[in-house]
Amino acid sequence: MFLGGHDLTRSIQENYLTFSQEARGRSRVYEILAAEVAGDPAVLAFLASLPPVKRQPNLLFAAARYLLGRPATIGSLRQLVAGRGAELAAVIQARRTQTNEPARCASLLPALMQLPQPLALLEVGASAGLTLLPDRYSYDYAGHRIAGTDPQAPVLRCDTRGPVPLPDRVPDVRWRAGLDLNPLDVTSDDDVRWLRCLLWPGEPGRGPRLEGAIATARRDPPAVHRGDLLTDLPALARQAPAGATLVIYHSAVLGYLSAAERAQFAQTVHGLDAVWLSNDVRLSPDVPVLAAGEASFHLIRDGSTLLAAADSHGAWLHWLP
Ligand SMILES: C[S@@+](CC[C@H](N)C(=O)[O-])C[C@H]1O[C@@H](n2cnc3c(N)ncnc32)[C@H](O)[C@@H]1O
Repeated sequence: MFLGGHDLTRSIQENYLTFSQEARGRSRVYEILAAEVAGDPAVLAFLASLPPVKRQPNLLFAAARYLLGRPATIGSLRQLVAGRGAELAAVIQARRTQTNEPARCASLLPALMQLPQPLALLEVGASAGLTLLPDRYSYDYAGHRIAGTDPQAPVLRCDTRGPVPLPDRVPDVRWRAGLDLNPLDVTSDDDVRWLRCLLWPGEPGRGPRLEGAIATARRDPPAVHRGDLLTDLPALARQAPAGATLVIYHSAVLGYLSAAERAQFAQTVHGLDAVWLSNDVRLSPDVPVLAAGEASFHLIRDGSTLLAAADSHGAWLHWLP
């Protein structure tokens, strides 16, 4: 549908007002900023000049932070648009929203430990590869501690609800590989700067955790290959070694796919000799879910077995009896 003039402005305004509500309780700075953008004709006109997929609040705010060196206010954003609009548009065009949250490994760990070891890990939508390292981090599940293989790696804290099958060790990972449309290079200072800019101001713990995970990954960077999960997955899966359980998994990726693409992805994974773990939004409305609070992911094995509900940033895990 083509939207022009007032309709276009109104749809961008609505998008920012919705984002403002979503940010409530997570980031007061972005809650206020998004609402202010919705009422700012100059910033709205700038957004209208961008392609539709590039108008998202997350992308605008991260790009502004990238140029300003700190989270934007409506005043600094207005100045940026007026004085450095081309530069801001260039960052937005060059970058994508690729937030990489290592704490999602805490949601995955119990399910990974139920599988025959050793494991071959293949993460689709891996971003910089920080969620490819579940064996290197340490964990604290409400006092139940598990030591990772890298003593300097961060401790991921996760509250438990229900009968979470807490393991006493981390998985034996023989092979790991990521696949992403646009891999971020954890050894690149510029890509790391972008990862930092994607965090929302006011979320305690996320910054230090990200820094710890980046340092962990830099000590032995995981391979993240450029490719599309819809077309390039079988070739990468074939590289996994025999004698290890191949696990194909993802978190915060399905939101990037249309319903038809999700179905195509499911068909591709079912055609591979692998366990499939989805720590994500629902694949389709047919998959049952737990009503376990807002903004949660569901941990689903092989496309249909619901194991748990999980916080989208790994803060809690609610296992089904
Ligand atoms: C929000 S990030 C999540 C990163 C990581 N899984 C995590 O949980 O922290 C989503 C990632 O999926 C990637 N992505 C989106 N669509 C994809 C596709 N069709 N094929 C491969 N990667 C894709 C994006 O480039 C982005 O890096």
